Amino acid sequence: MKPRLIELDILGDERGSLVALEAQQNIPFPIARVYYIFGTKPGVERGFHAHRSLQQVAVAVSGACTMVFDDGKERSEVRLDDPSRGVYIGNMIWREMKDFTADCVLLVLADRHYDESDYLRNYAEFLEQLNG
Ligand code: TYD
Repeated sequence: MKPRLIELDILGDERGSLVALEAQQNIPFPIARVYYIFGTKPGVERGFHAHRSLQQVAVAVSGACTMVFDDGKERSEVRLDDPSRGVYIGNMIWREMKDFTADCVLLVLADRHYDESDYLRNYAEFLEQLNG
């Protein structure tokens, strides 16, 4: 699977830069939740789950990290290191995050509220759900 990258227009002027994220415009779903991951300790890897229904877009608004995606057939990686580039993550995609820079702020937009029952945190169960 090829991760779907979203180019975000930079509204820049002599003062600096601004990026706007708008539901059903450059973000392809209604936004129900926004969270951000920051202060990630060196060497930490996180994620290691898929979502049954959730769609998300992730943007490294500062610093960089690597996201690994797995659709049960193929794995692929994206280095997020540009506040004008997001990655769309559909449902039933296993994701892992690694190689965070100390200054990384990973912003995530989601189309649903937090719901632990939407998570698949076990890779074997993820494959079972995909194939079953
Ligand atoms: P978790 O999903 O484990 O993070 P990762 O993206 O690395 O898999 O989330 C860490 C903790 O934060 C966990 O206890 C669940 C909680 N959490 C919320 O309460 N709301 C949220 O929107 C998210 C994403 C996590």
